[in-house]
Amino acid sequence: MALASTTAGAKPAESSKVLRLTQVDPRTQPGVRSAAVIGTGAFVGSGRLTNSDLEQMVDTSDAWIRERTGILSRPIATSEQATSDLAYGAAVRALSSAGMSAADLDLIIVATVTPDMPFPSVGTIVQERLGARRAVAFDLAAACAGFLFGLTTAWNLIGAGMYQNALVIGAETLSRITDYRDRTTCVLFGDGAGAVVLSAAPRGVGVVSSVLATDGSGVPFLQQPAGGSRRPASIETVTQRQHYIKMLGQEVFRNAVRGMVSTCTAALDKAGITSADLNLVIPHQANIRIIRAVADRLGISDDQLLVNIEETGNLSAASIPVALDQAVRAGQLHDGDLILMTAFGAGWSYGAVVLRWGAA
Ligand SMILES: CC(C)(COP(=O)(O)OP(=O)(O)OC[C@H]1O[C@@H](n2cnc3c(N)ncnc32)[C@H](O)[C@@H]1OP(=O)(O)O)[C@@H](O)C(=O)NCCC(=O)NCCS
Repeated sequence: MALASTTAGAKPAESSKVLRLTQVDPRTQPGVRSAAVIGTGAFVGSGRLTNSDLEQMVDTSDAWIRERTGILSRPIATSEQATSDLAYGAAVRALSSAGMSAADLDLIIVATVTPDMPFPSVGTIVQERLGARRAVAFDLAAACAGFLFGLTTAWNLIGAGMYQNALVIGAETLSRITDYRDRTTCVLFGDGAGAVVLSAAPRGVGVVSSVLATDGSGVPFLQQPAGGSRRPASIETVTQRQHYIKMLGQEVFRNAVRGMVSTCTAALDKAGITSADLNLVIPHQANIRIIRAVADRLGISDDQLLVNIEETGNLSAASIPVALDQAVRAGQLHDGDLILMTAFGAGWSYGAVVLRWGAA
């Protein structure tokens, strides 16, 4: 099976926007390296919010939530746990599973839209706690797709020869910006962090292809309206509950299916494989009906699909690395396995990454 880019002649059917992004892959040039996942870790909020808890808070029912979302319960950070605490916990576990010390890290990227504070970044806080003195650290915001944006960034920086070892973390405490009076959003989200250690590897292993996409026409449909420079925090913004997530769920749903299918199609094409070649598919866990619709359209079977939404809810940027860690710890992955990860989130920001498991 050829894993080299087959970009020439590749024509993803669904989106001309994706076509433009499917350019010649720099890592296919001679002498340029790839990056492989050599360790994973997860750390979710220590509290748990069940559907029956939510029944006490808003006009909803366990049956409605199960049927419409697939979620039964979700981890929630305790009042002492900030995003960096979850990120740090996941990072420690990922480093341990990689058999690597923090001193070996050159780069830390934290994907989050719920940082401890607007600045400094969660990355800097995690760098200090880990004692990763050599590492450059920063945050990146691509909402629920943040982990794939971070992974792709780290892969390219390693591929370019700038760094050797990177920690990529997806970490969120969405409960802090969720309105527990709004039944259309509060049933969905949980808190957690997942991390991977990414290390330089020969071409053909590790990340094989990535397709990221942005469609800014999605900005109005999913956002936290206040607390930034457009609407700074004020008594009015707090009274109007403008610091909470506002979402038009059906708009997200429709675009999520389309966006994940188009980027998955392009990423598979770029990797020179089809969905039948995949050992595992890890979709962002936002809604079981979105996951099923994407899987159906791509011809992905239940055996290939990782679903953990029942117990996680939507962990935003943490969703995929938490699920990946679960698969690793369950012994589901073997050297050479091909994994497809895909996510969609606010912006719209979305994408898909094909990963060949194993370090060499
Ligand atoms: C939010 C979501 C679960 C709603 O499911 P849906 O099937 O689209 O439901 P609708 O919005 O059409 O609402 C149907 C009805 O259920 C009601 N409803 C909404 N939330 C409810 C809840 N928690 N409990 C009970 N009823 C609810 C609505 O008010 C509506 O009632 P109406 O028909 O009387 O107006 C779904 O749209 C979704 O998951 N979207 C994607 C969200 C997402 O992933 N966001 C994160 C970005 S990655």
